[in-house]
Amino acid sequence: MQALKYLTILFFCLWCPLVSSKPGVLQAISRLEHTNSPLIVYPTQFTQNIVPKPIHSHNDYWRDVPLLSAISLGISSVEADVWLVDGELLVGHERAALSRNRTLGSLYVQPLLNILALQNPVNDFTVNQTGRNGVFDTSSGTSLQLLIDMKTDGPSTLPFVLKALEPLRMAHYLTTFSEGVLIKSAVTIVGTGNTPLNGIKLLSPRDIFFDAQLTDLGIPSNTTWDITLAPLASTDYAATVSWNGIGNITERDQVKIKALIEVAHSMGIKARFWDTPSWPVGARNNVWRVLLDSGVDWLNADDLNAASEF
Ligand SMILES: *[C@@H]1O[C@H](CO)[C@@H](O)[C@H](O)[C@H]1NC(C)=O
Ligand SMILES: *[C@@H]1O[C@H](CO)[C@@H](O)[C@H](O)[C@H]1NC(C)=O
Ligand SMILES: *[C@@H]1O[C@H](CO)[C@@H](O)[C@H](O)[C@H]1NC(C)=O
Ligand SMILES: *[C@@H]1O[C@H](CO)[C@@H](O)[C@H](O)[C@H]1NC(C)=O
Repeated sequence: MQALKYLTILFFCLWCPLVSSKPGVLQAISRLEHTNSPLIVYPTQFTQNIVPKPIHSHNDYWRDVPLLSAISLGISSVEADVWLVDGELLVGHERAALSRNRTLGSLYVQPLLNILALQNPVNDFTVNQTGRNGVFDTSSGTSLQLLIDMKTDGPSTLPFVLKALEPLRMAHYLTTFSEGVLIKSAVTIVGTGNTPLNGIKLLSPRDIFFDAQLTDLGIPSNTTWDITLAPLASTDYAATVSWNGIGNITERDQVKIKALIEVAHSMGIKARFWDTPSWPVGARNNVWRVLLDSGVDWLNADDLNAASEF
């Protein structure tokens, strides 16, 4: 039968020389793609082919579809601003933007649980696996960073954030510092905004970490900061660096950026600059280029497509 089919194709192609005379690999692919063949299906396919990139989705909930849009582009850090209102953690940039349906749970915790359930199938092959896979199929060891920017009073908001994260915690999906050991898992939570430093310090085990002020690191007498408290340190670019991306960067700014990043790295802490210029696009790109060349760990981005193609 198969031979007959090839002969038929061959016959017709005598009359249409532009069409390939033999079924090629592209036709084989196309044929398989239109089947439910078990050969092309596997459990952790939800994020198939997506390569994680060190990009931070600034105010991620602004995207049409929060979290998933970022993950689809390989963006491995997202940010949610949370407001404690009537016992609920609502997500939005300002009060006017809040909606009772958009909560930390509905926009982030539940979708993460769904994705991670897909990436962590329980079957004969995984019975002995102790660690958890992350959201990215191409890099299961990459932890997704979720920045939770507390907008309301820190000490009263923190207990609600801890409670909202409970389903992720129960499933062992959260990076945790416990009994002197830091165990990386699928999701690393970092508190920012009004997150209370003391509240985070007191957590034991600790699965919400702190976003340190990058310009506060590197004072030898100060032992506050280490990776078990602050895996991330950030600073406001515009307030720290005078170069706006137009023209050449000054030697002074260049040295300052490098020094800040190097101090963080010497402590094992990742460095991020937020409030980088977003326009003109050329200036934005110039700043991104200098930051990456200087060793920055996260590119802070509003335009996720532009950053992922940078
Ligand atoms: C929120 O969701 C409920 C259903 O769960 C719906 O009835 C309600 O209209 C929604 N509210 C808003 C503001 O969209
Ligand atoms: C899991 O561990 C048990 C006990 O050591 C072993 O017999 C089994 O082959 C392991 N299964 C897999 C899939 O590694
Ligand atoms: C260490 O630095 C932090 C700010 O980065 C500050 O809050 C704290 O008081 C300092 N501790 C000491 C002992 O100086
Ligand atoms: C900017 O730097 C480039 C390369 O180092 C140099 O050729 C150019 O003259 C500089 N421009 C200004 C305005 O200093």
